[in-house]
Amino acid sequence: MTALSQTALLVELEPVVERNLDRHLSLAKEWFPHEYVPWSEGRTFDGPLGGQPWSDADSTLPEVARTALVVNLLTEDNLPSYHHEIATLFGRDGAWGTWVHRWTAEEGRHGTAIRDYLTVTRAVDPVALERARMVHMSAGYVNAHDDEVLHSLAYVSFQELATRISHRNTGRATGDPVCEALLARVAADENLHMVFYRNLLAAAFELAPSQAMRAVADVVADFQMPGNGIEGFARKSVAIALAGIYDLRQHRDEVLVPVLRQWDVWNVTGLDGDGEAARDQLARQLDDLERAAARFEDKRDARRARLAAAG
Ligand SMILES: [Fe+2]
Ligand SMILES: [Fe+2]
Repeated sequence: MTALSQTALLVELEPVVERNLDRHLSLAKEWFPHEYVPWSEGRTFDGPLGGQPWSDADSTLPEVARTALVVNLLTEDNLPSYHHEIATLFGRDGAWGTWVHRWTAEEGRHGTAIRDYLTVTRAVDPVALERARMVHMSAGYVNAHDDEVLHSLAYVSFQELATRISHRNTGRATGDPVCEALLARVAADENLHMVFYRNLLAAAFELAPSQAMRAVADVVADFQMPGNGIEGFARKSVAIALAGIYDLRQHRDEVLVPVLRQWDVWNVTGLDGDGEAARDQLARQLDDLERAAARFEDKRDARRARLAAAG
């Protein structure tokens, strides 16, 4: 069987987009960012209005929760780049276009809500945050597989779930029920996004199993969080992993494995030589990740024991 072109894939999947768009719209609940922000806690800042400057003592949130909130917000902030990526690849017409715009509108709430919360509660330095946003958005974002439909669908299936887990665990790490409720609300959106993309790739597995398998194996091999271009991301992501907000174990066991199970990748039939090779590669990658996750957990346990012993 000859491989389907990118255009053929888009055309063949359009009815699936239409069905899943209807499903999404019937399940997505309207919500309002302003209802999740404790406005009465806010105070005017210094600058033109002559209020009080931000100081570290303004926030009682744990340091790592603040780090994770900033990473999550900067990730959401880069929405114009993500929109550009999917609008270019999926197009702006028909059911694909309707999804692209609807998804963008929903994502737009996330950055608004989190920024309002952080600013009102003085959780993080608003000057540093704004400077980081400028740097991050000025760099833009490019997906590693931005000219391939199935690779992009595989990537966003994993990425939406990764983002969901990261938001949820960040909420818990703050110890603030208000923030937790806000991030749980955002996480619920990310979950619906994940299901939409996951269903599309499930249809692709029926349509072009070998191409779909290749896409999944390639994406798992070089997966990077969308915020990986944030300044100091390596250091921040280690802190986030040490705190158990998002680590390799969660990436493997709570993101990759459940999505792969939904696609039933180990039982897909009708693969050609490359499809089989891709599936073998995927199995090896999961084994490698298992070892790396266990190694990290051992190191983290040892570190925690050392810190506990040191008081
Ligand atoms: Fe989001
Ligand atoms: Fe999302």
